[in-house]
Amino acid sequence: MCGIIGYCGKKASSEVLLEGLKRLEYRGYDSSGICVDSPEGFKIIKKTGKLKNLLSIVPERPFGHNGIGHTRWATHGGVTDANAHPHTDCTGKISIVHNGIIENYETLRRLLKEKGHTFKSDTDTEVIAHLIESCYKGNLTKAVLEALSLLKGTYGLVVMHQDHPDVLVGARNGSPLIMGIGDGEMFLASDAAAIISYTKQVIYLKDGEVVTVTPDGFQTVDLDEKAVEKDIDVVEWEAEAYEKGKYPYFMLKEIYEQSKSIQRGMNGRIDMELATGHLGGLNMTPEELLKVERVVIIAAGTSYHAGLVAALLLENLARIPAHAEIASEIRYRNPIIEKNTLYFAISQSGETADTLYAMRELQRKGARVLGICNVVGSTIARESDGGVYIHSGPEIAVASTKAFTSQLTAMYIFTLIMARLRSMSYEDGSEFIKELTAVPAKIEKIFRNVENINIIAKKYCHTESFLFLGRGLNYPVAMEGALKLKEISYIHAEGFSAAEIKHGPIALINERTPSLFLVPDDRLHDKIISNMKEVKSRGGKIIAVAVENDEAVKGIADDVIEIPRASEYMYPFLMSIPLQFLAYYAALELGRDVDQPNNLAKSVTVE
Ligand code: G6P
Repeated sequence: MCGIIGYCGKKASSEVLLEGLKRLEYRGYDSSGICVDSPEGFKIIKKTGKLKNLLSIVPERPFGHNGIGHTRWATHGGVTDANAHPHTDCTGKISIVHNGIIENYETLRRLLKEKGHTFKSDTDTEVIAHLIESCYKGNLTKAVLEALSLLKGTYGLVVMHQDHPDVLVGARNGSPLIMGIGDGEMFLASDAAAIISYTKQVIYLKDGEVVTVTPDGFQTVDLDEKAVEKDIDVVEWEAEAYEKGKYPYFMLKEIYEQSKSIQRGMNGRIDMELATGHLGGLNMTPEELLKVERVVIIAAGTSYHAGLVAALLLENLARIPAHAEIASEIRYRNPIIEKNTLYFAISQSGETADTLYAMRELQRKGARVLGICNVVGSTIARESDGGVYIHSGPEIAVASTKAFTSQLTAMYIFTLIMARLRSMSYEDGSEFIKELTAVPAKIEKIFRNVENINIIAKKYCHTESFLFLGRGLNYPVAMEGALKLKEISYIHAEGFSAAEIKHGPIALINERTPSLFLVPDDRLHDKIISNMKEVKSRGGKIIAVAVENDEAVKGIADDVIEIPRASEYMYPFLMSIPLQFLAYYAALELGRDVDQPNNLAKSVTVE
């Protein structure tokens, strides 16, 4: 969602800010803006639409060495230039960028208006600027602290003041903020992507921390103004990992990265000798794992689909009752926390508000929640009771691809551990490892035949509606395929159990609504063939993702995407890759903005 960048140092700040905003575009936004200092006062430039709109009105000669920038995803107030950040107080001396939502802003706004403050926007953020103004008596940090004590809601924010030309003040509560440490320059940002080309040394701020930054140093305090010691972390990835490189879109790059990212997620975590897995971060002994009687997975979007696959796998192989639930639903239905139930929060970003708040609610009720996250140092990763980093590398495209298969990898290893602690034999464990470690090479094989998927995408992308159909472990994969297609091509698509269509969705079948069937060569193969025939006999077009040389499928389907043969448990990996390509090529053909689809955000930090 919204992105923040702040800079103080020797460089022309507008250049650093605009470069940072470019790298934050992926989060999803509808306006952007910067504020930089200059001898004549602050220069504030903001514009709705894509960053190129802002770039077109920024003067060529950059001014000032201090500045803040923002990409806004509208919540309070429409998408207008006036509502774009930064926002200022009445004097125009205080400027602020903010992520999050101030819940009591209407009351504060009324009180401030009564005191004579005038507002220029409809946002909740502007209230903070005026509050700081009313608290300011010469010390910016103190004024920010006093203002924060009056706020209810979430924030990641950065403030600058004309009378303190070398100072930025940042604060965090519920919206991420990190500090980047350079040589005679400092950065504040909503995530590492914004500053990675300048520094890899970062400090992750925690909720309730306020930092005062100058080009040569920083001071962190809590909300009671007590000093807080901070450790410096080093970002794991090089700047190139945040760039498209030779690819036209991040999504395509990330799809192609999957053979490597899955491998990386397995490195050091497979024990061939004992035919089991090793996930140190779980913070649980084998005895504790043995006591687990149920697993509940909470997540949103693509991560939820990974959770659905994982729950089925756990039940199948480890014989532990398991289910996945949409995080936003579990939080508000007063969930019953059973003894010996282990919870997982799966989240690529580790910042999704729905998942984070659900996790906190579960923890408050006494549950143990493990995090499956990609972004190191993210809130869910830090606040969970243990967990696993999936190491898929920065995922920039809004549509999640490699994180999905890496989340599966982590959960497959967890399942192996649980199954081997229970009824799975050494031989079956070895076989499972053999199959899992063979997945990256099989994915490489799929990469060699993507042109066929491109042709199929072009053939069907002008249709209005699409059905994705699978069974068993591939039913959630069908849901994920439908999500991918609708997210980036805007074609209406739904995923169903292939058996379930006869109870409703089959009414939609006609020659303009193609059905994509996932057909592994497992025990449900013949059942799915019957489902395909039901669609065919009603004039529906059929695309099938099936194993090589499946003559039965070829006899019915209009188009076939072939994947290598595997054990039935590994098909979720192999089936999901063609669906990602299909969505990508359909979106490309339709001229969509593949990496930054309409209205979507990479990391949804509001409920
Ligand atoms: C947003 C993104 C999705 C993502 C979901 C959950 O909706 O657009 O791609 O799957 O959030 O994100 P998370 O970071 O928690 O996995």
